[in-house]
Amino acid sequence: MTIRSLFKVTVVALSLVGLSSCDRNPERREIQYMPDMYFSQAVKPQEPSAFFADGSGMRTPPAGTISRDFVPYPYSIIEGEKAGRELVNPVPVSAETLATGRKYYNIHCKVCHGVVGSGDGMVTLAHREKGMPIPPQLYSDKIRSEWADGQIFHTIKMGQGQMPAYDKRMTDEQKWAVVHYVRALGRAAHPTEADLAEVEKLGWKDAKALDNPYREDIKPAQLYLGGTEK
Ligand code: HEC
Repeated sequence: MTIRSLFKVTVVALSLVGLSSCDRNPERREIQYMPDMYFSQAVKPQEPSAFFADGSGMRTPPAGTISRDFVPYPYSIIEGEKAGRELVNPVPVSAETLATGRKYYNIHCKVCHGVVGSGDGMVTLAHREKGMPIPPQLYSDKIRSEWADGQIFHTIKMGQGQMPAYDKRMTDEQKWAVVHYVRALGRAAHPTEADLAEVEKLGWKDAKALDNPYREDIKPAQLYLGGTEK
């Protein structure tokens, strides 16, 4: 090995050692080349500030302040029917929408309303004797033929009786997707002959026994789309 190549090898080896010693400990401050960018003058949340008389850096927003993503909702809790007349589901129905609806239904609603909307979710069953009301079927004739999409949306958004409001727990788009899924449950519980033929083609047995909360394999979303969950 020549002196020259020995020198090269040494340089490479030393730089590797140098790199591997980079400290990843976030507690330790690196060298601050521009301290002004590290220590800004802005008051951080919860920080005191001598500037204001009350010594707090946090200010109460002026009356009437709304958050940037605030969308006004013009119906009070008892105006579900009005919401039903006036609101139109803006989310087009598709397999993707139904998958979203199904996901959020299973997260938020299944505990009470049950897998297929028959009202026998875990929570309802477990707390029945303690007075937990049995939720009405989500595929009742009332919901299917009298309730418009907007009224279901309104119920999800505002809650009803013992049912909590889901306004902040889902985006409006997700709520509308759940509405589509509730429609799918309705259709699944009252399949037409054509639906049943479609189900048969897909190889599902007992298509008529849809009112069974433990039938996870029943895919109402597929039924709603005429058997093409693509
Ligand atoms: C804590 C249990 C619980 C959860 C969770 C719940 N609900 Fe309810 N839901 C109820 C009860 C109880 C009622 C009946 C309320 C009443 O009228 O007093 C109800 C009523 C409804 C109604 C009106 C039915 C009718 O015939 O009046 C709809 C629609 C509905 N729920 C949909 C949903 C959807 C969709 C979700 C999920 C986003 C959901 N619920 C989550 C318990 C629940």
